[in-house]
Amino acid sequence: MCRSWGPHWGWVPCGPTPWLLLSLVCSAPFGMLGEETRQVSMEVISGWPTPQNLLHIRAVGTNSTLHYVWSTLGPPAVVLVATNTTQSVLSVNWSLLLSPDPEGGLMVLPKDSIQFSSALVFTRLLEFDSTRVPKGAAQPSGKPYPPYSLAEFSWNDINNSLDLATLSAIFQGHPVDDPAGAFANGSLAFKVQAFSGSGRPAQPPRLLHTADVCQLEVTLAGASPRGNHSLFGLELDQLLWGSSPSGFMQWRPVAFSQKQRGLDSALSCQSSSLHPTLAYPLPQSPIVQAFFGSPNNFCTFNLTFGDPTGPGYWDQHYLSWSMLLGVGMPPVDNLSPLVLGIMAVALGTPGLMLLGGGLFLLLCQKQHPEYQSLN
Ligand SMILES: *[C@@H]1O[C@H](CO)[C@@H](O)[C@H](O)[C@H]1NC(C)=O
Ligand SMILES: *[C@@H]1O[C@H](CO)[C@@H](O)[C@H](O)[C@H]1NC(C)=O
Ligand SMILES: *[C@@H]1O[C@H](CO)[C@@H](O)[C@H](O)[C@H]1NC(C)=O
Ligand SMILES: *[C@@H]1O[C@H](CO)[C@@H](O)[C@H](O)[C@H]1NC(C)=O
Ligand SMILES: *[C@@H]1O[C@H](CO)[C@@H](O)[C@H](O)[C@H]1NC(C)=O
Repeated sequence: MCRSWGPHWGWVPCGPTPWLLLSLVCSAPFGMLGEETRQVSMEVISGWPTPQNLLHIRAVGTNSTLHYVWSTLGPPAVVLVATNTTQSVLSVNWSLLLSPDPEGGLMVLPKDSIQFSSALVFTRLLEFDSTRVPKGAAQPSGKPYPPYSLAEFSWNDINNSLDLATLSAIFQGHPVDDPAGAFANGSLAFKVQAFSGSGRPAQPPRLLHTADVCQLEVTLAGASPRGNHSLFGLELDQLLWGSSPSGFMQWRPVAFSQKQRGLDSALSCQSSSLHPTLAYPLPQSPIVQAFFGSPNNFCTFNLTFGDPTGPGYWDQHYLSWSMLLGVGMPPVDNLSPLVLGIMAVALGTPGLMLLGGGLFLLLCQKQHPEYQSLN
């Protein structure tokens, strides 16, 4: 049941090409995964005593259910859980979830149906001054401005953007404290979309999706940069996959600097290597704590969009990037010519792209002891 992706590459902390984090899916029996269609429901679970943004996506297949729980309680985060029954349900205890010790506030029941669980947290929006970056500089994106903590953003009510026809919802936010008014006309948006079957959107980057995945599109629009040549990035905090089957994030190393996505608005997207989170404190996600307790096996990495010379956020004050998040095997994508062209322009290495393709598979801890070094 297991397909390998290239050689048995473990994760190498300081690999030569950090974005080429390519790996192998564990040899787990996942008959429960890879369903062609799923009955997907999407529900906003209202908070108590005040409304909170908690979005539950439940995708039921013939003998499995996937749960994706997205929230902007704390930094934007998602908890994903796969169960081997069609009956599993999400249970939320708000008084626990909103308490200082939220453990147990979020559960998927019955507990023994859980085959896999993981989480992803978006901790900070990064901004770099890319003017006069010397060639071969230690920080090729330039000097960092103080990052925006996404835990200190205020978010819209997702009920207003919930679209059951397209199975999507948008979390749109801006910093609570914005003395310079950088976000007076701007926002950062996380558009989450689920699918009841497989397909490929018409718009680049045209990521091939299945019914097992969730797509996330992150858009920064209208915010005033702090310099006239600012590059932006995102810091992600990844809970290591501790059990099999595996999970994955998949993206193409491309972002766009215009709503009109095409060759002339394509930016490269670089990923840093993975670092253990404990190196510096990051905001905690209540939903992750509520489900996992106090996990200590987080690692973090940065994505940066664009480079000092190409097109950039400065063109139209717009930046958009997409990824898929899922359980089991990532969709095998034969790249469309347009996207291949974009990547060729963006990075000049279509061969590597075909191999790596922005595919970021996270390993099973059990089978890859090199991950232990993170703990
Ligand atoms: C789940 O259902 C599929 C198709 O109906 C079947 O092939 C598979 O063996 C089942 N898996 C389990 C774990 O029951
Ligand atoms: C929620 O958790 C609290 C604290 O553990 C508990 O007292 C309460 O009964 C729980 N509420 C529900 C509805 O289970
Ligand atoms: C926001 O938009 C208004 C109207 O278009 C404009 O007057 C103002 O300067 C803008 N503010 C910022 C910080 O860009
Ligand atoms: C950026 O702004 C500085 C000062 O405002 C100016 O001197 C410089 O020419 C600008 N650079 C570009 C590329 O516009
Ligand atoms: C991400 O970027 C921030 C800001 O430059 C930096 O402090 C942090 O160390 C970076 N993290 C990783 C994993 O590279």
